[in-house]
Amino acid sequence: MPASATDHSDLGAAAPKNDGHMSDSAARFGGMSAPGSAPAIEAIDLVKKFDDNTAVDGVSFTVPQGSVLGLLGPNGAGKTTTVRMMTTLTPPTSGTARVAGYDVRENPDMVRRSMGLTGQAATVDELLTGRENIAMIGGLYGISRKQLKKISGELLEQFSLSDAADRTVKSYSGGMRRRIDLAVSLLAAPPVLFLDEPTTGLDPRSRSELWDVLRGLVKQGTTLLLTTQYLEEADQLADNIVVIDKGTIIAEGSPLQLKEQAGKASLVLTVSHADDIAPAEALLRKTGGEVFVDLGARRLTAPADGLADMNRIIGWFTESGIEVDDIGLSRPSLDDVFLSLTGHRTEDDSPTDTLETSA
Ligand SMILES: Nc1ncnc2c1ncn2[C@@H]1O[C@H](COP(=O)(O)OP(=O)(O)O)[C@@H](O)[C@H]1O
Ligand SMILES: [Mg+2]
Repeated sequence: MPASATDHSDLGAAAPKNDGHMSDSAARFGGMSAPGSAPAIEAIDLVKKFDDNTAVDGVSFTVPQGSVLGLLGPNGAGKTTTVRMMTTLTPPTSGTARVAGYDVRENPDMVRRSMGLTGQAATVDELLTGRENIAMIGGLYGISRKQLKKISGELLEQFSLSDAADRTVKSYSGGMRRRIDLAVSLLAAPPVLFLDEPTTGLDPRSRSELWDVLRGLVKQGTTLLLTTQYLEEADQLADNIVVIDKGTIIAEGSPLQLKEQAGKASLVLTVSHADDIAPAEALLRKTGGEVFVDLGARRLTAPADGLADMNRIIGWFTESGIEVDDIGLSRPSLDDVFLSLTGHRTEDDSPTDTLETSA
């Protein structure tokens, strides 16, 4: 058994390990793990079948300690099911997973003690205040009142909820709810954290605030697995990305590697007059790349690597006198990744190609 797992089970036996908040935990965990020890998370050929629908079809990956894995995929790809198997909430049909060295089949209790989970739906009680929610869950974990007071203050501070701590969660914004949810899931001081679509439905500001919080956790040594539908989110947070579609891994690598696979950025330009479409197309062909024309929208798309390319093209148009309504750079999206990897768009865009109809 790996050194970290042995050490960790000692810790588990010694105390319910609810005696600190996650920075202490991460430090403890980091201190215990020998360099080059087992990965914090391993998926080993995970399969999950629901009747004749294979939701997860042989998924394997590893997440080194202290790193962030982004599990990226569209609705219905099998992200939640994968996370549920890895967190002991549902048994795999075949294959297994290890968390902090513990097998989800053989040692589910130790897996649960080693991890925190924030699901897609909030789990906090709306009628309680933020502080009361922390106290309630902390009580369930058996944390003493004195420790709870300290930990709760620290968590509320860390998640910028101190001012709202004594208001009912009902009055919280979407971003605040996610943060209190995350704070509660960190009460057990888990070295490994699973987050299922932590920012879906949040406005851009709340999203980037949450990203900051997550970066802070990682800095303290927490290992993170987060699922997301947003390439940008995985790009911002993940060291490595695993892309799944219809239950299988279709790509993996660093954010940079994936974006390169998805193709270059494009310049998107709308001309003011339909008459100008043809001359605009001729100008854009000077880039040497393929030019796409949407006649109805008077919109043209051409490859452009960055601002320098864009400036060059703007120069051509200024000289030519072609009137332009709108011009901008568009970066590859998750859709583009999917299109380039699978030749089909994400489920939401292709109703004829959903798991439901193919099942
Ligand atoms: N409890 C369940 N019973 C039957 N089918 C399920 C269940 N949970 C998920 N599925 C199916 O498994 C597939 C993957 O779902 P899910 O893991 O929730 O995807 P994601 O989280 O990526 O959106 C979908 O086809 C979904 O309908
Ligand atoms: Mg899901």
